[in-house]
Amino acid sequence: MALKDRLNAITRPIQMIWLSIQLHYNAFKEALRNEGVSSLMNPQRIRDAATSTLFITHSHGFIAYENTTVVPSLVHAAHGKILELGPGPGNQIHRFDPSQVDFIYAIDPNPCYGDEIAARVKKLDLQDKYKLLACGVEDSDILIQEGITEGSMDTVLSIQVLCAVGDVKSVMKAVWKLLKPGGYFIFWEHERNKDAGTALAQACLNSAWSTFLGCSLNRDIKADILAAGEWENPGDIEMAEEPYSCLPRIWGVLKKKA
Ligand SMILES: C[S@@+](CC[C@H](N)C(=O)[O-])C[C@H]1O[C@@H](n2cnc3c(N)ncnc32)[C@H](O)[C@@H]1O
Repeated sequence: MALKDRLNAITRPIQMIWLSIQLHYNAFKEALRNEGVSSLMNPQRIRDAATSTLFITHSHGFIAYENTTVVPSLVHAAHGKILELGPGPGNQIHRFDPSQVDFIYAIDPNPCYGDEIAARVKKLDLQDKYKLLACGVEDSDILIQEGITEGSMDTVLSIQVLCAVGDVKSVMKAVWKLLKPGGYFIFWEHERNKDAGTALAQACLNSAWSTFLGCSLNRDIKADILAAGEWENPGDIEMAEEPYSCLPRIWGVLKKKA
């Protein structure tokens, strides 16, 4: 039984990798058709196009799965001036509580999500409260121009983004600084499994997964969150009991020490 569960748990990531390889091939052909061989000089554009196609076309499935988890209530708790890291296609936009939101700044370095997010923001009539910036959380110059400065955010939201950023430690330190004293870091992430067998499977899959899905399977996200700065409630991080999952979730609402 355990062997069957283990095999099932690695089948899904392999299917996702295969799907993404096909989308990368399609994006590569499209770029070659439109821009000729010069498109090969910019592989990141091909990668952005492929991963955004994957996350946009599977958006409904991700939303439906997250509806069975704590994600809706986590996003609903975001309030005030909010920084949403890596919104991707905007799967969380409908989960914010508009009565609690002053403004949402969403930052994502992949520029291919703009149209999808704009459509969702319009449908929810949130145009006056939502702004997408095509940059990463590391791009402090762009953030400062928008007034996203140290101690300015009531909430920073991160739903499956710390797996995708370049360096979690420095991103988390930046996030901690951006929060107001007493501000909240709300997150739902996945990390390296505590089960040694599953951690081995994650290590084996990680290079293909990170190449084609754009995120890492085996980070110690909890340690980097806790090391970012002082939190009022560091013990409030929760972890799902998923010994065979390659994407075991951790989540929490941490309050920056005032
Ligand atoms: C798995 S997707 C998560 C999408 C979304 N948060 C959701 O709930 O469905 C990860 C996102 O993080 C974005 N990302 C990667 N590096 C980033 C960075 N340095 N700063 C902000 N977002 C980043 C990616 O472009 C991608 O859209």
